[in-house]
This record gives sequence, structure tokens and C-alpha cells, in this order.
Amino acid sequence: MPKKKITPVSLIEMKRRKERIAALTAYDYLTAAILDEIGIEVILVGDSASMVYAGYENTLPITLTQMLYHTQAVARGAKNALVITDMPFLSFQTSVPEAIRNAGRCLKEGGAQAVKIEGGQPMVKTVKALVERGIPVMGHLGLMPQSVHRYGGYPVQARDKEDAERLLKEAKMLEQAGCFSLVLEKIPWKLAKEVTEKISIPTIGIGAGPYCDGQVLVIDDMLGRFEEFVPKFAKRYAQVATIMRQACKKYKEEVKSGKFPTLRHSFS
Ligand code: KIV
Repeated sequence: MPKKKITPVSLIEMKRRKERIAALTAYDYLTAAILDEIGIEVILVGDSASMVYAGYENTLPITLTQMLYHTQAVARGAKNALVITDMPFLSFQTSVPEAIRNAGRCLKEGGAQAVKIEGGQPMVKTVKALVERGIPVMGHLGLMPQSVHRYGGYPVQARDKEDAERLLKEAKMLEQAGCFSLVLEKIPWKLAKEVTEKISIPTIGIGAGPYCDGQVLVIDDMLGRFEEFVPKFAKRYAQVATIMRQACKKYKEEVKSGKFPTLRHSFS
């Protein structure tokens, strides 16, 4: 039986059925095709591409044009998974009309089915405007990497009572505004559990403990391809950088020694 395309509504139904959601980031066609084939439900074209794909220090430099390019490649590989474009810094914060235009481009030109935007109460108007125009929105609370300069790093968020209450309030506001799901990044697990229990849309955790409705990781963290640092919340499922290093080293040695190519790799 052919698999069904995952939609924002499918995710809400999965939460109702208590079925956990598996999400990963991807930035290219081949990776997206593998994730799609094994049934990952959500492929997030994260602005983490700025760091793990383009080598910038943080997520701020990546542009909408670059995110559209990554989204197009991912969308070609994802037949069934829900493709979500992470709206890059300054593509949605400046005004509601600009957010509509840019989010619309992610769907129209990128081929995504939804967008993700960072922010709580200040983004409520924008979320409403996007949803009213048919653009599904995933919210993002807790640690918001686009605010790295405000935090002065990537600290755990909402540790005290006042911040935790504000986060819960903002989660409810984003739900009310029409978000179909919510990323919770780097917050105490008890707070993530409480938010998950108190809203009807699925929470997707990253560094938010085991009680969210789903989980997301940056693919290069879990594959062991990004080696600069391993966040505490990321589990390494492979050592791909090591495998790449070994394979490329062997290739280099064989080219230098004349072992590759052989006549088997040649045309008569
Ligand atoms: O950019 C990103 O990869 C994210 C995370 C939620 C994984 O926003």
C-alpha cells in the first residue's frame, strides 16, 4: 500500500493517538530521500544549515534565498514526510506583510508544506496572519538560537518559576493563534511535560526531555558528522565523520600509489 503524505493535521492526529513523532533536519536531496524512505514523519529544513552546512558560527547569516535552495532539494527527496522550512533571521520579524511574502515563498518556490518561526508573544500576530492565509506554522519556544547574542550563548531556558509560567502562557497563545505544533528547545523536562499535557497541538522536543509528543535533532549531530561540539541533549547514533575520514584517506592513498583507478574502472 502506498504511504500517505504526512500533513500538519496528521501530526495533531498522532498526538491524539499518543503516537510519537520522529523529526530530523535535512538540507539536501539524498538525505531527505533516506529519511523519507525510513518513515521519518517531519523533515525540518533547519536554519542550523547556517552552521552545519555553511560553516557559519551561528544561525544568523543564512539567507532566505539559501533556505529556499535547501528546501527545494529536500522537497524533491521527501515524498511522504512533512517538509517544514525554518524561517531565517530577519525574514519574518520585521513586519507581518514581509513574513507573509517570505513564508509564502517557502511553500510556493521551496515546495515546503509549512514554516517554523521562533518566538512567543511577539509573534502571535504574525502566526495568525500566516495561518489565515493558508500557511501552516510550527512555533518554537525555549532556547531560540536566532537570539544567541541576547543570551550570550545557548543556555537552558525557563529554569525559574516566572519564566516557566511565561513559556506555558506563550505556548497556549501560539496554539490559539493557529500553530499546528511547537518546538520546545533546551528547557527543563518537567516544564516540557507540563506544556505537552496542557496544549492540544504536538510538542517536538530538542533538549526538552522524554515527555514531548515528538523529538527532533540536527542530523549532523546524531550522525556524528558535526564534531565541533556535542550538545548534552544530542545522542550520536553513528560516527560518520570518522567513516568519511577513513574512506577519503584510503582514496587519497590509492590515487597517490596508482592503485585506483584500475582497468576495471576504465573504458576500452
Ligand atoms: O534549525 C534547526 O535545526 C532547529 C532545531 C529545532 C533542530 O531549529
